[in-house]
Amino acid sequence: MADIESILKEERVFLPPSQFASAARIKSLDEYARLYERAAREPEGFWAEVAKELHWFSPWTQVLDWNPPWAKWFVGAKTNLAYNCLDRHLGTPRKNKAALIWEGEPGDRRTVTYQQLHREVCRFANVLSRLGIRPGDRVMIYMPLIPEIAVAMLACARVGATHSVVFGGFSAEALRDRTNDAGAKLVITADGGYRRGKVVPLKANVDQAVKDTPTVENVIVVKRTGESIAWVPGRDHYWHEVIEAASDKHDAVPLDSEHPLFILYTSGTTGKPKGIVHTTGGYMVGTYLSTKWVFDIKEEDTFWCTADVGWVTGHSYVVYGPLSNGATTMMYEGAPDHPEPDRFWRLIDAYDVSIFYTAPTAIRSFIRWGEQWPMKHDLTSLRLLGTVGEPINPEAWMWYHKVLGGGRCPIVDTWWQTETGAIMVSPLPGATPTKPGSCTRPLPGVVADVVAKDGRSLGPNEGGYLVIKKPWPSMLRTIHGDPDRYVKQYFSEIPGVYFAGDGARRDADGYFWVMGRVDDVINVAGHRLGTMEIESAIVSHPKVAEAAVVGRPDELKGQGIVAFVTLKKGNDPRPELQDMLREHVAKEIGALARPDEIRFTEALPKTRSGKIMRRLLKEIASTGAAKGDTTTLEDMSVLLRLSTSSEEE
Ligand code: WTA
Repeated sequence: MADIESILKEERVFLPPSQFASAARIKSLDEYARLYERAAREPEGFWAEVAKELHWFSPWTQVLDWNPPWAKWFVGAKTNLAYNCLDRHLGTPRKNKAALIWEGEPGDRRTVTYQQLHREVCRFANVLSRLGIRPGDRVMIYMPLIPEIAVAMLACARVGATHSVVFGGFSAEALRDRTNDAGAKLVITADGGYRRGKVVPLKANVDQAVKDTPTVENVIVVKRTGESIAWVPGRDHYWHEVIEAASDKHDAVPLDSEHPLFILYTSGTTGKPKGIVHTTGGYMVGTYLSTKWVFDIKEEDTFWCTADVGWVTGHSYVVYGPLSNGATTMMYEGAPDHPEPDRFWRLIDAYDVSIFYTAPTAIRSFIRWGEQWPMKHDLTSLRLLGTVGEPINPEAWMWYHKVLGGGRCPIVDTWWQTETGAIMVSPLPGATPTKPGSCTRPLPGVVADVVAKDGRSLGPNEGGYLVIKKPWPSMLRTIHGDPDRYVKQYFSEIPGVYFAGDGARRDADGYFWVMGRVDDVINVAGHRLGTMEIESAIVSHPKVAEAAVVGRPDELKGQGIVAFVTLKKGNDPRPELQDMLREHVAKEIGALARPDEIRFTEALPKTRSGKIMRRLLKEIASTGAAKGDTTTLEDMSVLLRLSTSSEEE
């Protein structure tokens, strides 16, 4: 199979501002290179040293047991992640520091200190034990983004229950299927949550789901909205009632390092959800270190990762990474455009957020809404920006840099996956010069490469498959209930290495440029093109906010290129603009990539975590309608509009 051709040329380079670098944990490229080299030479010694910064009830006898593709890290050691996130800080000045700053969508506010959070978690851990939850039991969490979701996760971690958080935007059916796959005994939920001023009926969905989940014995319900809900006596328990009777003293259970911490179902853009299994010790070490280095986190930072806790980004960088570092983490329950498109900027201003971590899809929405919204607020508290979830188009990167960061804040474009547990390839903000659109270099301890299908390393700027060649502590351990699928999915496609589906190239400086999922690669007249590069060329046009590119069958060329384009507010989708955009792409990256067709659309179909569902667009581009699986789609109406309006544009 041919590798992937790269056509994007991006020459801009941004050095870490000297003031930022001099105060950073890792201050120069040299320092990074030394750390990287050390970790490569002696990975087990490197990771053991990091692990020693955390608390273990008893030590490991072996750092790594690697029986490919099965890994065990910190073999034989006992630890507890909730202990490391809470108890470890109580004997220090962090005891009365804000662990969690929270704002609800209606504007209600709570601040929870480390000591308070510890007590809440202890209480809830006692509740779990009283309901018969034992180490290894599975617990579903289906909640809005409120402090109790963190309490629930940490309490599970404390007693050794394996949690499985299902994003509150998922349906009853999705919850049912995941609950059955996990075989969970308990569901933790709320009566409802707020989203764009409306109540999401979480408890009603749970009632619907647990009709067909034979393993579920109890349901715990946080009273959030006060709406009236159905109640099954004996099965249902109000959170505030059960914790009232519970003691706030609880000894964290020493758990084996390889004890399963959580199962997280990947929403994926294709196929049936998979229950990704992460374990305790390695995941803890990976999220701890990446938070510390990539976000350069300091005692006085207010760190805001905007992800919902229902995604891995929320697990690792709203809850476990920041708390294991003793940092202040922020959480906001609702939508970024409620009541107006400046809610995020209002929050940054109100809480003096210093580190802001969000997704390219969100940034493209901000661009579409216009810079008048951030301009209304004082954002000078920001010192560092981050992105995750998709390749970021260079123009979106530039907007983020200029408009939000005031040209002052480094940007960390962090590449990782649910499966990797923690950030893998990313700048270190005080050390790594950044290039818009590149996630730069692997973190120390991560051995990444770009290879051909046969596993051969490719040279500079040759597009191929992004792989990880050595085990790392926070890697997934298996797919719940389906070890064969684990082997097949991640370790069979390319000989001897981990591969989870992304195409990439590495430039002459060793920088990684992710080109999108390999399933989305378009084959035009024998040239295999990644979607990201063509999309980036379209997005670099000043009138465009967002673009998604897919292939459709073409008799002559193999595949033709169809681009779905969203314009910035205030621009009309005139037919002349279609020609202008086609020429713009030809000029930016070459005639080969000139789209055969441009379709304007108000919105693109996205997964609930914000990734563009190119699979559905492919169907629309070739058949006029999408008939495939749409269960992970955020907004069904987008698809309907696209399908019916397809002919007239
Ligand atoms: C994509 C989210 C380019 C990629 C943490 C990956 C990215 C998938 C980046 C995982 C990035 C994530 N640049 N692509 N910085 N970050 N991706 O499991 O395709 O929701 O394989 O984990 O998102 O998505 P997931």
